[in-house]
Amino acid sequence: MAEIELRSDNAAAVAPEILEAVAAANAGSALAYGDDAVTARLEEVVRDVFEQPAARVFPVTSGTAANALALTSICPPWGAVLCHESAHILNSEGGATSMLGGGAVMRGVSGHSHRVHPDGLETALGAVRWGDPHHSQPAVLSLTQPTDMGTIYTVDEVSALADIAHGRGLRVHIDGARIANAMARLGCSPAEITWQAGVDVVSLGATKNGALSAEAIVVFDEDAADQLVYRTKRSGHVTSKMRFQSAQLIAYLTDDLWLRLAGHSNRQMERLATGLLDAGVEFLNPPDVNMLFARVPDGAATRLEAAGLLFYRIGPGVIRLVTSWQTTDDDIDQTLECFASVLGHSA
Ligand SMILES: Cc1ncc(COP(=O)(O)O)c(C=O)c1O
Repeated sequence: MAEIELRSDNAAAVAPEILEAVAAANAGSALAYGDDAVTARLEEVVRDVFEQPAARVFPVTSGTAANALALTSICPPWGAVLCHESAHILNSEGGATSMLGGGAVMRGVSGHSHRVHPDGLETALGAVRWGDPHHSQPAVLSLTQPTDMGTIYTVDEVSALADIAHGRGLRVHIDGARIANAMARLGCSPAEITWQAGVDVVSLGATKNGALSAEAIVVFDEDAADQLVYRTKRSGHVTSKMRFQSAQLIAYLTDDLWLRLAGHSNRQMERLATGLLDAGVEFLNPPDVNMLFARVPDGAATRLEAAGLLFYRIGPGVIRLVTSWQTTDDDIDQTLECFASVLGHSA
């Protein structure tokens, strides 16, 4: 069997529609640093797609940059970002937010299914020594949508958490590295899951879902946007050939391409999860989007690898499988056959 890619949606190639958009933008010259017609058009597209005429957009080159810049635009150096204890910003970004934020800290809040829950948030906020300079002052609530473990927040859940956060003077950020997967699953509009639910700043992922190192910060808060003009430049994210990032993001957001790619990825995961459940495989959580965490004995994992399945082992007896826009029906069929043969063998 040829290798089957289930390690990460980051490992997928660039979607053809996105590459075509880059090629189409590759004509003639254009002013550098985002002063070009394609980038101006991107802002119009974002305003249209998010149904928010005041929205601003800042293209950046990685999800980590999007998060760190988005967060530090709404968190002072003495501030704290509250997030779930499993959040990528806390565990997997090397302290980028603290570095760019002049010492801002991140505080993990516990919560079932890898999501922040209203009670947990209230408890965390209730324990703060407000106004005490010895204690970092919570300034932001950051929600990872979907979470690093593939669970999602409903629109009502985002809204309830944002209400609590705003009530204490915090602003709300979404790490939307895979927000298209969450939206495809929820069937909600971009406006409903962001500013209408009380979200101030969004890290809009695109790379994991078919783009080529193009992400964006979408901002609904004027002060944050004013800061990002300078913060993006000072951190090296105002790229000279921004038109090629902007062209990708326009293609991504046009005619629902982002939702079609994410919907495909989610559906392939649904097929995979259904087949694995039938084969008796146990999951850590039911997969809401395109990520699945399954309990597989280490010996069986070794045989799956030997058969050509590419996946991550994330702990003893637990593997992570991720589908992408590129995962084919055949990939899923072969993966299921491979599991059937390995689990049959280990039984
Ligand atoms: C939830 C989440 N947020 C942010 C990122 C960061 O993206 P990047 O690797 O492009 O910096 C990732 C990457 O895996 C992620 O999974």
